Amino acid sequence: MKKIVPLSSLILLVTLFQFCTKNDSLDVSTKPVITTTPVMTFTSYNYLDTYPAHIQVALANSDNTPATNPITNEGANLGRVLFYDKQLSRNGTTSCGSCHQQKNSFSDSVVLSRGLDGGVTTRHSMALLNMRFYKSGKMFWDDRAATLEKQALQPIQNHIEMDMTLELLEAKVKSLTYYPSLFQKAFGTSLIDSVLIAKALSQFQRSIVTYQSKYDRVKQGLEIFTAAEAAGEQLFLTVPANRTCASCHTPPMFITSSPSAPFGLDDTNDLGINNRGNFKSGSLRNISIRSNLFHNGSVANVQEMLTAGNPGSGKQPIPSHFLRTADIPNMMAFLNTLTDRTILTDAKFSDPFAL
Ligand code: HEC
Ligand code: HEC
Repeated sequence: MKKIVPLSSLILLVTLFQFCTKNDSLDVSTKPVITTTPVMTFTSYNYLDTYPAHIQVALANSDNTPATNPITNEGANLGRVLFYDKQLSRNGTTSCGSCHQQKNSFSDSVVLSRGLDGGVTTRHSMALLNMRFYKSGKMFWDDRAATLEKQALQPIQNHIEMDMTLELLEAKVKSLTYYPSLFQKAFGTSLIDSVLIAKALSQFQRSIVTYQSKYDRVKQGLEIFTAAEAAGEQLFLTVPANRTCASCHTPPMFITSSPSAPFGLDDTNDLGINNRGNFKSGSLRNISIRSNLFHNGSVANVQEMLTAGNPGSGKQPIPSHFLRTADIPNMMAFLNTLTDRTILTDAKFSDPFAL
């Protein structure tokens, strides 16, 4: 029997194909035709939070904000739009927010992230929390970008991630109707270039600070730790005496102050900073609700990290990163106090292109 495909099914098929391939931030039900102009709902937010005293002290000691790029509300508001704009990738499918998802503490749920053509990154996506507290200001697991401003343009040009040239990027941003007024407000000029794009992205990212966890309320005298949490904090600060967790992950932001030997996750494929087997670790805040830890995402979660090497774990211990079985519940209780869930839903860090 000869099969005749009715015209209506063909149309349906074509339409479905469009639905599957188009930018998922567009409202497919009301806009069945692919359009290159994304729908962006702009709301102006305040990014100049007043931090509690213990955070302000840490900031005074470690802030990597350059004098040439202080956070302003207008700059961070522009940075938010750029951060989530998929038009900044060659084929309009990938934004910074694709691999740094708000609900995952600005990291990715998968071990390695997918870029614009489905290629995967070589390392695990870093959680973009509290980055302004990393004193040297160097970025990436291996410190290879000198500043956040210099880092910002790299994923845009990376062939796996967003695959643009700076010329294409500037032309693209200039062509999108919502940008000139945002640049005017942020920098007093409608002249759009990659230097200002990097500055705005950096302002937005530096404003992502977690300071509303139980740990923070305890440090302000508003709450107290349970016995287990307090015992966990003592472990973090004192065990083992010659190389405590805190000696590398400095409170209150728990970010490595100076990545140093002899810590090393055995990884012959990736030798990190200057090929010395060293890596930076970002802030340990929200670590209990993150997965695929370490530079290669090879450690499923904190519990697995602390347990490795103990009888029955079936895994080799990670140097400096395991505890006696009896101490693990207390350490877990303490690390749980570092979780700040407000950051996961705060509208000012959310995707303005989502409908
Ligand atoms: C395809 C996924 C992907 C995209 C898109 C992406 N990133 Fe990343 N990001 C990563 C990965 C993976 C790393 C870790 C890379 C490394 O260390 O080599 C990372 C690291 C970073 C870091 C370093 C953080 C630290 O503490 O050192 C920053 C900052 C960052 N990304 C910002 C951005 C910005 C801004 C954009 C958009 C312009 C962006 N990323 C787009 C996957 C991505
Ligand atoms: C000698 C320094 C050093 C000590 C001591 C140390 N760490 Fe780390 N830690 C690091 C470095 C560097 C990394 C990142 C390494 C990598 O990705 O390969 C890391 C990674 C981590 C991670 C994963 C972070 C992420 O974003 O994926 C956790 C969790 C962690 N450490 C917790 C602890 C705890 C808890 C202790 C104490 C039991 C501790 N660390 C002791 C240096 C140290």
